[in-house]
Amino acid sequence: MPRAPEDRLPADRLIVALDVDSLDRAAALVDALHGTARRFKIGSQLFTAVGPAAVEAVRKRGGEVFLDLKFHDIPNTVEGAAREAVRLGVFMFNVHASGGRAMMRAAAHGAREASQTLSLPRPLVLAVTVLTSFDRQALASELRVASSVEGHVLHLCGLAQEAGLDGNVASPHEIAAIRRAMGPRWAIVTPGVRPAGSETNDQSRIATPRAAAGADYLVVGRPITAAADPAKAAAAILEEMRA
Ligand code: C5P
Repeated sequence: MPRAPEDRLPADRLIVALDVDSLDRAAALVDALHGTARRFKIGSQLFTAVGPAAVEAVRKRGGEVFLDLKFHDIPNTVEGAAREAVRLGVFMFNVHASGGRAMMRAAAHGAREASQTLSLPRPLVLAVTVLTSFDRQALASELRVASSVEGHVLHLCGLAQEAGLDGNVASPHEIAAIRRAMGPRWAIVTPGVRPAGSETNDQSRIATPRAAAGADYLVVGRPITAAADPAKAAAAILEEMRA
């Protein structure tokens, strides 16, 4: 389990979502947060816009990257993508658990093998279980999944663990049930975090940094990136995490 023991400090547990459309804007945010936040999430918007240059820009500035591209393909293709994620030097990436056990095994295998071959640290490989945009009704009518959202999340977490993954991306409301079922070594990464009294934006299932404290990593985007002073906003969130 590569979750580093030093990943206990709030600054190691905060991941800032760089949901912007250009390298300049991403770099400006990383610079503005220098000395406050050091981990950043690069998702499909920024990666589609500028590609691996986004990862390089963060790493060049001393930051670490969670590559949030949610791979979902045949095992061979996902294994190849996992290798490239290692080569990019990201500390975390994710795959859709609904890609199945063989696909998740391939992701874990690709990450492990590439890190050995290239003598690079092995990234954490996370499962995306049920997207928070799904509710029970959509799960049943669109995907023909009969169980509750939480039941399906826990089922997919079990499958991901069997396949050798390290953790999952979870709504703040799922943290306690996942921790109970999966144990202390399972890494839980939680978006939808909003400081008390801030804008919810389009997030419907939110929690304060304090309420999401049971997660290992908190992903926060707009409360920091859209703030007039991103470093001040990040420092306030770190303070709430400490409390
Ligand atoms: O700006 P905000 O704090 O809402 O950003 C949250 C980030 O976490 C976004 O990049 C979003 O895509 C991501 N995310 C999420 N909910 C999920 C999975 C990922 O908000 N279930």
